[in-house]
Amino acid sequence: MKPTTIGAATGIAFILALAGIASAAGGRDTIIASYAAAAGEPLSAERGKALFMGTHSSGKPDTPSCITCHTDNLKGPGKTRAGKEIEPMAVSANPQRYTDPAFVEKWFGRNCNSVLGRECTPLEKGDLLTWLSSL
Ligand code: HEC
Repeated sequence: MKPTTIGAATGIAFILALAGIASAAGGRDTIIASYAAAAGEPLSAERGKALFMGTHSSGKPDTPSCITCHTDNLKGPGKTRAGKEIEPMAVSANPQRYTDPAFVEKWFGRNCNSVLGRECTPLEKGDLLTWLSSL
């Protein structure tokens, strides 16, 4: 290889490595943007926090809040009802959070039904992820 070819190959490898680091954030931003588009109004981290930390009476009696399992220390681990550890929810403590749309949807489906007794709306999901991503 000529030196210029090696230089170009190294440059491309470097760009690909950077893209790998950026892709987790890109996936999360895309998911949040799609909830914002479906909601049709600006998202609010404050509302997301209130929903997550709040106590609700419309769901299952043994899961009145998101923090029943995720705890109020979101940079630390949570625990399922069966005592299995759940990884931290704060993106600063767990950078892979909220990067796989199917995983996010699956768990919003289960957890909103357990805690609220209904699906979360796109606005609520967008609010929740805006707040959780800021932690
Ligand atoms: C019964 C226990 C429990 C409750 C209550 C609960 N969760 Fe979870 N949650 C889990 C488990 C278990 C997972 C999947 C394991 C993991 O992601 O580490 C999860 C995953 C998630 C995820 C997916 C995270 C990702 O990386 O994409 C989101 C979002 C979420 N929960 C939000 C909520 C919200 C919002 C509430 C309250 C409405 C809530 N959870 C209440 C147990 C719970």
